[in-house]
Amino acid sequence: MKILMISAEVVPFAKTGGLADAVSALSIALEKAGHDVKIIMPRYYKIDRKKLTKLDGPLGIPFNYNETWSAVYTTTLPGSNSLPVYFIDHEQSFGREGVYGNPLEPDFHDNVSRFSILCNSAFQLCHKLNWYPEIIHSHDWSASLANVLLKFNQRWKPEFAHTASILTIHNLGYQGNYDKINYPKTGLDWINYHTSGFEDYGRMNFLKAGLISSDILTTVSPTYAEEIQTFEGGFGLDGILRYRNKRLFGILNGVDTEYWNPEKDKRIKQNYTVKSINKKMINKKFLQEKMGLEVNENIPVIGIITRLVAQKGIAELFAPTYGSAYNICASMNVQMVVLGSGETWCEDEIRNLQAKLPNFRAYIGYDEDLSHQIEAGSDFFLMPSKYEPCGLNQMYSLLYGTLPIVRRTGGLADTVQQYCEKTGEGTGFLFDNLTPQSIYDTVGWAVYAWYNKREHIEQMKIRGMKKDFTWDKSAKEYKDVYKFALKNICY
Ligand code: ADP
Ligand code: GLC
Repeated sequence: MKILMISAEVVPFAKTGGLADAVSALSIALEKAGHDVKIIMPRYYKIDRKKLTKLDGPLGIPFNYNETWSAVYTTTLPGSNSLPVYFIDHEQSFGREGVYGNPLEPDFHDNVSRFSILCNSAFQLCHKLNWYPEIIHSHDWSASLANVLLKFNQRWKPEFAHTASILTIHNLGYQGNYDKINYPKTGLDWINYHTSGFEDYGRMNFLKAGLISSDILTTVSPTYAEEIQTFEGGFGLDGILRYRNKRLFGILNGVDTEYWNPEKDKRIKQNYTVKSINKKMINKKFLQEKMGLEVNENIPVIGIITRLVAQKGIAELFAPTYGSAYNICASMNVQMVVLGSGETWCEDEIRNLQAKLPNFRAYIGYDEDLSHQIEAGSDFFLMPSKYEPCGLNQMYSLLYGTLPIVRRTGGLADTVQQYCEKTGEGTGFLFDNLTPQSIYDTVGWAVYAWYNKREHIEQMKIRGMKKDFTWDKSAKEYKDVYKFALKNICY
């Protein structure tokens, strides 16, 4: 099948979260399964042109009922056989620091233009390459306009008449809401403003338009597919999702097991497998030393790696006088290691905790090496998310023999099985209510098991390490969804 992936983020070129990992790994798995996949994304300032090949001639892109011009660069996606990534090199839109924004301007004022240019360029690029996809697969709000354009502006052309569109929701919390004055930049006619579903309480909403106009919707775990159809989880779009639920599928993300694999991981101190799990201890000692903690194998280490945003339960963990991290570290014989960046108040509070608590250490910033070292060196991994469409770190944790302590939501509920004290069954520790007390209690429960039921803990680690989270499984499910989409195009 010919598949065009459209995304604002793709690993290793640009990443703000798991979306980038997912698009890249899914594309590779689909290529491996024999599909003809191409990816299109912006060439941000940080992506070095010198490492790319320039396509001949400029690309004319419809914009604001006019046209704008861009160069296109390409390279092969690392880890694939020959999967091309095409970079839209529109200097005015993408030649700056940041994907959606930067610390000075968290949501760029011209995001409507930027992502309209990305989405419109997809069709022009197909003409340029003389290659027409059967499937356009867009990811999140920033690419969802492509599916709307396909429906209203492109399907009447023979080249796209039989192309089906898929929109994958990686996070319903980010929708792309902007003033409707920007609408003409999308390239759609005002006549589509209502029927295309762009209108949302007087403003334009990219994700909403995509949810209404795409042939098929997917999201990244079965439980999240249910949750987004409820008032509590729907971010105002649950009505549309319920209305379209025959076309909504939850497919669990996989893990790139070439990159996240304790047997081969080049970023960790000591490789290990199920058979040599005792060597994990070397990583623990390395982590304790690196972070300035007491090097002591008898104290359990709890790791946290996260964007510091409300979605991840940071208030319940770190809010001054309210959050549970302080009480956990002050009253339990544990160590806590945090890697993250995000909201300023939270970064500040983490620095405060570090100054107060000898068993709490953090690195504020983004650090790929440290993220692998925390996965390999921790005993537990804490993820108290408010909501979690899929979540990657709990899966990495399982594969690294690090037991997840998670809130039962979205992909966390689908990937972690509750510990049973009687039988020792399970792969981690789950709780339901997102309160500092529940986090405290569940961590306490896990720590109790670590000190008193060590045989259970060891069995659980091995059970986790044996889990199959390969992308091949998910790629098969996407293939079935693509087939369904081709038979069910909404003309
Ligand atoms: P989300 O996409 O909502 O942030 P995921 O769990 O799907 O959550 O993916 C997060 C990804 O980003 C993981 O690969 C995680 O290791 C990585 N990550 C998050 N924060 C950092 C950080 N500060 N340093 C290194 N990696 C990070
Ligand atoms: C989003 C979600 C996360 C998911 C990732 C990849 O960023 O917040 O849960 O794992 O996308 O699909």
